Amino acid sequence: MPQSIQTIFQEFIEKKTVLFKDRDALTSDFTPDTIPHRNKEINTVASILAPSLKGGKPSNIFIYGMTGTGKTLVTRYVGCELEKMSNKGTNPVKVIYINCKMKKIADTEYRLVAELSRILGQEVPITGLPTEHVYQTFFNVLDSNNWIVVVILDEIDALVNKMGDDFLYNFTRINQELKRAKVSIIGITNDLHFIDILDPRVKSSLSEEEILFSPYNALELQDILKQRAELGFKPGVISDEVIPKCAALAAQEHGDARRALDLLRVAGEIAERENDPKITEKHVDMALEKIDHDRIIESVKSLPKQTKALLWSIIELEEKGQKNMQTGDIYSVYEDVCKECALHPLTQRRISDLISELDMMGIINARIISLGRYGRTREINPNVSEKVKNKMKDILKSSLMI
Ligand SMILES: Nc1ncnc2c1ncn2[C@@H]1O[C@H](COP(=O)(O)OP(=O)(O)OP(=O)(O)O)[C@@H](O)[C@H]1O
Ligand SMILES: [Mg+2]
Repeated sequence: MPQSIQTIFQEFIEKKTVLFKDRDALTSDFTPDTIPHRNKEINTVASILAPSLKGGKPSNIFIYGMTGTGKTLVTRYVGCELEKMSNKGTNPVKVIYINCKMKKIADTEYRLVAELSRILGQEVPITGLPTEHVYQTFFNVLDSNNWIVVVILDEIDALVNKMGDDFLYNFTRINQELKRAKVSIIGITNDLHFIDILDPRVKSSLSEEEILFSPYNALELQDILKQRAELGFKPGVISDEVIPKCAALAAQEHGDARRALDLLRVAGEIAERENDPKITEKHVDMALEKIDHDRIIESVKSLPKQTKALLWSIIELEEKGQKNMQTGDIYSVYEDVCKECALHPLTQRRISDLISELDMMGIINARIISLGRYGRTREINPNVSEKVKNKMKDILKSSLMI
């Protein structure tokens, strides 16, 4: 091992953390003991699931709301409490949590049903059997116990993107095939338009009950942060203005508790790195910049090549001094860029859609301007700091080989 790496590790081990007591408590994977400001949602989910404790099949539930509003946390918490309660009684309830974004588990119908069987104690080969056979194995293992099974399909939109809604159609009708066991589904998404794209039959059976998780306001976020800060930081290391500021910044966007926690944790990390004895407003500002910077850079890295060529064209135009670009201006530069990097140019219509996508990601700003009786047009400008732009240019250059 090169000496420098050893030194880094050694210094890390020896360095005393001045500010953090338990950094993990400030990450979004941590599960807190209590969940402030979600009593109503917890009680609703619990009341819908309660009949399972007497052997009844609970209604399917569709849970939706913006990112970071506690959907996963609340659902897993109630699921866990339900299992605990059923262990004390005579009716066995099993709660299965699947994150549909997980690769190799929820990629195909086969893999998902095989995974469910495996969780219930029946291994199925990873490939090779006809799908009906895998379903049969799953039905058999379900029926071998008089289980009530609650399957939580988190990020269910990812599942439908991968498999279409046929799977959900079959899955919401699974009880017709079962003799003793019963299966309920909880689908969770932060895609607020997801339910509209489903086949109406799937939609009505999945959303027998619907629960909306609203964004948190700044005061609610402060309570959530206080609870985590007490666990995560040593006493007295946070200045008074820090928690209100993190909460206000996260509330300004869309009341996202994950973002509020990230701001607080990263502010702490920055203060610690700078050997400051206290976390202050200045560190929150720096955290905000760092998080946005990282988020944009990561999303630029994963853009398709065509969108990268488009973004490069916009940056080139801006560097030539053009402001308030229109789609037509960008398109002619884009055609040249395509020639340079041997890409087949997309139509102007398609480029216009990709411009909207970049706008939604916050990388550019596309403002619609009315031209009176000449209709409407868009004025497009990059929307990132110089620092982010330079980093973006490096990524685009190496990926497009320009
Ligand atoms: N009421 C709350 N009390 C304490 N922590 C919370 C609360 N709500 C959310 N959190 C925390 O915020 C983070 C995000 O919550 P969660 O993962 O449940 O959001 P989500 O609604 O599932 O978001 P997404 O749609 O992005 O999956 C987690 O770390 C969670 O612990
Ligand atoms: Mg979630």
